[in-house]
Amino acid sequence: MPSEYAIETSDLAKVYRSRWKRREVRAVDGISLNVQRGTIFGLLGPNGAGKTTFVKMLLSAVHPTRGSALIFGRNAREPEARRPIGYLPENHRFPTYFTGAGMLDFYAALSGMESAERRKRIPEMLEVVGLEQWGSMRIGKYSKGMLQRLGLAQALIHSPSMLILDEPTDGVDPVGRMQIREVLTRFEQQGVTIFINSHLLVEVELFCREVAILDKGKVALSGKMQDLTAGKGYRLTLAEAPEALVEELRTKATSMASRNGFVDFQFATRQLANEAVDLLRAQRCEIESLAPTTSTLEEVFVRTVAK
Ligand SMILES: Nc1ncnc2c1ncn2[C@@H]1O[C@H](COP(=O)(O)OP(=O)(O)OP(=O)(O)O)[C@@H](O)[C@H]1O
Ligand SMILES: [Mg+2]
Repeated sequence: MPSEYAIETSDLAKVYRSRWKRREVRAVDGISLNVQRGTIFGLLGPNGAGKTTFVKMLLSAVHPTRGSALIFGRNAREPEARRPIGYLPENHRFPTYFTGAGMLDFYAALSGMESAERRKRIPEMLEVVGLEQWGSMRIGKYSKGMLQRLGLAQALIHSPSMLILDEPTDGVDPVGRMQIREVLTRFEQQGVTIFINSHLLVEVELFCREVAILDKGKVALSGKMQDLTAGKGYRLTLAEAPEALVEELRTKATSMASRNGFVDFQFATRQLANEAVDLLRAQRCEIESLAPTTSTLEEVFVRTVAK
């Protein structure tokens, strides 16, 4: 039976050893991670946390010091395990004398595609990433955003089941980033698993379903995006209320704070929030807003890596 996971790692670790400096770097320090098929997974972490080393081990470009990795249920060391993967490396450099289409043809040939299939697939891919006008231009003249989009087309050229993208939108402007997100969402809808390394938190928050935060080679926090950013309790905001009522609400609330002419009450449970609403409405007080408290991914990230 095919595995329900696109990626399964168990205690995966990499220690880089530099003999002449007698130094050891525990780049990845025992990561056990499961990535469901068909999901968009974000691996986050500060610079040097071990994100790139982790994906290089999935691709067997770096040999693990210990532990194991499975790709769609196959040992990642088997060359066949890599066939269903499309990979966009971090800071990739394509030879500048290639044209965009020529570069795609080169990579498609490397992955074993027949020339008739390549001729059909290359214009399709250039169109998917919005470079249909630029396929015959030399890569040396491409902007950074165009290079990233071409890199994405390269990763997609052989119709992979999983995309592994290392900082896919690095150096790309906001419009270009949105275009890349749109392309990725389209492939996710077709069932492609997408694994992204990133430190652009807003971006990951926008479209990853699950995340893991790496810190110094270990998973510091992982889970579904909505669970990680879900807060505890409810926030009720009022523009004005009689003082006696504010005092009464204060006894039920875990905290109260004023800001820009509004008063925010924090309630620990839904029941307490509803009791507050009953009190306010019984006296015809207007409620400005009531919402579950959530954190941004940035707040979660900073809390996690600053520990
Ligand atoms: N080939 C190597 N030899 C020795 N040390 C290395 C090597 N590659 C990476 N490292 C070290 O391993 C640690 C993790 O690096 P890695 O590139 O995996 O982190 P990263 O999370 O991808 O960082 P960034 O966000 O900057 O891309 C760093 O301390 C780095 O200096
Ligand atoms: Mg990296």
